Amino acid sequence: GGPSQDELKRVAAHRAVELVRSGMVLGLGTGSTAVHALDRIGALLRTGHLRDVVGIPTSEWAAASAAAAGIPLTDLNTHPVVDLSIDGADEVDPALNLVKGRGGSLLREKMVEGASRRFVVIVDESKLVPRLGASGLAVPVEVIPFGWSLTLRRLRTLFDGVPGFNIKLRTAATNAKASAFDESESKSEPFVTDNKNYIVDLFFEDGIHGDLNLISDEILRITGVIEHGMFLGLASSVIIARKDGVVVVDK
Ligand code: A5P
Repeated sequence: GGPSQDELKRVAAHRAVELVRSGMVLGLGTGSTAVHALDRIGALLRTGHLRDVVGIPTSEWAAASAAAAGIPLTDLNTHPVVDLSIDGADEVDPALNLVKGRGGSLLREKMVEGASRRFVVIVDESKLVPRLGASGLAVPVEVIPFGWSLTLRRLRTLFDGVPGFNIKLRTAATNAKASAFDESESKSEPFVTDNKNYIVDLFFEDGIHGDLNLISDEILRITGVIEHGMFLGLASSVIIARKDGVVVVDK
């Protein structure tokens, strides 16, 4: 027994939505956890418990889900300051750094959440890791399609000699799946992001050792790289739904 993983995601999401006030500009997250927040905000708008809320979606998927939930939408140009963003994550480390982008929406997520006064992350306990990358799942890097294999090679060089390191272009078949490195799918068509870019996935057997800010800078300095899925120092709080209750960790 006990609550299912989806129930835990909903518990975390509903706790975060308690922070939403009428009149707020919200950053609307992407994924199977964030959808519970979108549905909840929509329900509170319908019953009149919330008024005058507008949302900035972090993906085309979030835009469609928020519209379906009845949340009025706006954009970062109209509202460059966001009051509160609520979103899931793929990994959370003890310092509240995140890996995001398994669903491929990391660029818009980082733009919206980086423009937020408060960014609340909602996860079930399975997302907690001792070190970013330690789940063995992808750390994504968004790259422009032009010359992508050269960019991939430069990224590989950056992590030369790191034991257990692997890298591959994300395919349409593997996006949003919790898959570890698998060479065999490399022949299928690339996954294309909302921004019409590709994703190169990095895999670290034992997680990323070293100075994350430095590694972030080195990745971003490669021409052809647009953004990566490490969200360093961006989360204000993380709401963790565990089987034995909810834990809120503030920065
Ligand atoms: C989307 O690109 C991601 O950053 C999601 O926010 C992240 O993958 C969490 O998704 P789930 O809540 O579905 O695990």
